[in-house]
Amino acid sequence: MRNYFIAGNWKMHKTTGEAVELAKALVEDLKDGKNKYMIAPPFTALDAVSKVVKGTNVMLGAQNMSTEEQGAHTGEVSVLMLKDLGVQIVILGHSERRHIYKEDDAMINKKVRLALKHGLEVDLCIGELLEEREAGKAEAVCERQLREGLAGVTAEEMKLVTIAYEPVWAIGTGKTATPDDAETIHYYCRSVLADMYGKEVADSVVIQYGGSMKAENAKALLEKPDIDGGLIGGASLKVETFSPIAKFNS
Ligand code: PGA
Repeated sequence: MRNYFIAGNWKMHKTTGEAVELAKALVEDLKDGKNKYMIAPPFTALDAVSKVVKGTNVMLGAQNMSTEEQGAHTGEVSVLMLKDLGVQIVILGHSERRHIYKEDDAMINKKVRLALKHGLEVDLCIGELLEEREAGKAEAVCERQLREGLAGVTAEEMKLVTIAYEPVWAIGTGKTATPDDAETIHYYCRSVLADMYGKEVADSVVIQYGGSMKAENAKALLEKPDIDGGLIGGASLKVETFSPIAKFNS
């Protein structure tokens, strides 16, 4: 029913030459892989990596985009520019965008709708802070981020949407949510999606886990019924650490 979707978020790593080298190695290593794959290099390497992944089973992702199509927005990158480079999917609402760059749900929603309007797939990241988890608010935070991030998005457009649940306290810290803790939130998020769009749509939406996912813990997480993939940061920067996750089921 749902295909596993394993994605690499390279964040602010890799010069163009390094990015091309890694992309080439991954394309070769994953060519017989049976899951859906995406790599998201920094903006500066998108053009070069686009040429490497074109026509392969590895999708090209971007890590962010502007709320606007074009205009006086110094330093921003628009959806039109991403499409022009062959980008197929864009990560939006990553916790580093939310917390370091103060992007709120309304801004993220504007980006989500703009990407979908232009036919790009969206990987919408949600997830609670440690203090929110400790206060028993993890579900409520994720629900708000889902409802506000997806406001105005139609059931039809949901075919282009992936959700990534990334508890902020697990990102880049080496701390992973236990498979059971992650499954609890994934299951809850799917019930929120069912309330918003109906069960059929909710059952078809891929919900990835992100936060210190690595070869050693991927299988136990991905075997949970509502965990359909991974959004991987640190472990996506080398073939030796990304491929075993990408091929966990082969
Ligand atoms: P991490 O990052 O795998 O390094 O924890 C995940 C992410 O931020 O998407």
